Amino acid sequence: MINEIEKGNDVQKPEDINPEITRNFVDFIKEKSETGKYRVEVKVGDKTFSIDVFPTVFPPRSDYSVSSKSVFETFGNLQGLEVADIGSGSGIESIVAVMAGANHVDAADINQQAVDCSRHNVEINNLKNSIEVFYSDLFSNFPKKKYNLIIANLPIVNFDAGDSPINQALYDNGFEIHRKLFTEAKDFLAENGMITFTHANLQSAKTTNPDYDFIVLEKLVDECGYEIFEKVEREDLGYKWVNYKIKVKQND
Ligand SMILES: C[S@@+](CC[C@H](N)C(=O)[O-])C[C@H]1O[C@@H](n2cnc3c(N)ncnc32)[C@H](O)[C@@H]1O
Repeated sequence: MINEIEKGNDVQKPEDINPEITRNFVDFIKEKSETGKYRVEVKVGDKTFSIDVFPTVFPPRSDYSVSSKSVFETFGNLQGLEVADIGSGSGIESIVAVMAGANHVDAADINQQAVDCSRHNVEINNLKNSIEVFYSDLFSNFPKKKYNLIIANLPIVNFDAGDSPINQALYDNGFEIHRKLFTEAKDFLAENGMITFTHANLQSAKTTNPDYDFIVLEKLVDECGYEIFEKVEREDLGYKWVNYKIKVKQND
């Protein structure tokens, strides 16, 4: 745990938490997502590639999408690995995973426009032999395979904001999507396989308990039978961003 401010088994929620804190962030993403299709150049190390972003799809390169960058910057060498990208959005993580050496990537998104967008970007980057994209609620419509790495850059704002496609890209009320992901992923992880995702204190950064967002998620990781074996922290936009790598606990 980053900060031990727990009461019994329950994490104490700061009284000054305010969902409005994330409003600018959310407004920016909504505005961007409603502008129609636009192209961005993505730079990874010394390589650059283009992707098109369709309406309602999470913008993969902006001042606000620190999470996308944060996930793939911790990939390392994925040579020969079977990879799943759950919540693929524009497909950026899948494409970077192949650039990092992944053998094959299966990607999923619950937003049809994100599925279409991922497929389009796979095609324009000539990666149809390496990446397959499924319309799927987490693993519900996914191949019954085992993966060495599951990338899960899912929504991270713990707030109920309704279920429009862009809200589905941003909000995970009570971390229910994460709970489902951690539970279902056990059937899809190869031996020693791992899940990677990024989290930020978008709700609690400016409260009396800035680490509250992390404490809640780390408690969930533990409850679902996983252990954290790597955490990479960075500060950006006034928030803390943590990239996690987790594995199923040995005795689970
Ligand atoms: C924060 S965006 C990240 C998109 C992309 N991976 C990136 O890094 O730019 C989260 C994505 O998860 C998708 N998503 C949300 N709930 C999902 C679910 N239950 N199953 C599959 N995808 C989901 C959203 O539609 C959205 O595209």
